[in-house]
Amino acid sequence: MSKKSSKWYKNHINDEFVKLANKENWRSRAVFKLKEIDEKYNLIKANSRILDLGSAPGGWSQYASQKHKNIEILAIDLLYMEDLENVNFVQSDIEDFSDNYLKNDSFDKIDLVMSDIAPNISGIESADVPAMLNLADMVVEIALNVLNNSGNLLIKLFQGKGTDDYLREIRGHFDKVRIIKPKASRSNSREIYMLATNLKNELITQD
Ligand SMILES: C[S@@+](CC[C@H](N)C(=O)[O-])C[C@H]1O[C@@H](n2cnc3c(N)ncnc32)[C@H](O)[C@@H]1O
Repeated sequence: MSKKSSKWYKNHINDEFVKLANKENWRSRAVFKLKEIDEKYNLIKANSRILDLGSAPGGWSQYASQKHKNIEILAIDLLYMEDLENVNFVQSDIEDFSDNYLKNDSFDKIDLVMSDIAPNISGIESADVPAMLNLADMVVEIALNVLNNSGNLLIKLFQGKGTDDYLREIRGHFDKVRIIKPKASRSNSREIYMLATNLKNELITQD
């Protein structure tokens, strides 16, 4: 193991949220970010349909499916994810997912799109922020196509050049946009979450 990865590993196993996730049998420490946001804004509702983008190893889907039994989750990730109750998993790049599914008229509408997708991080801001915004653009395109009127979008972003413009664009589509830094999000990371609630009922005109 390189010096850098052994330092990361040491920090990781000593992390309080990693320890808690292991103790409580969650698939990832990321679950505590969703839990904190959900406890404040009640995003995961009974009888709802949820799209979990960048879902592996499955902490967010696991939290949602344990919160309500009568919930339907479609989870997508490049990486394989183990089965979970009430979760239909598709191993795919979100780019291919949007090409294959969005053109399918029988696709039922979704109440919440949640995306914890992140690119491979280089540590170089001028590479990481645009890579994240590129993914975030795909996520919002999917969300605008699949969400019910008044549906919600939760998405991970990195603070940096271009992120304010992205937020401005999102504000036009939703009633309220909040920026959240959950306790489980490392303070030295550029990561933030954007919660956009109540998709506006827009008339889409086609040329
Ligand atoms: C931070 S992890 C998600 C953790 C998850 N929320 C949990 O609680 O277990 C980010 C995930 O995004 C996935 N990802 C990155 N780019 C993707 C893409 N283009 N399409 C689908 N998944 C992608 C990665 O494979 C990775 O599993």
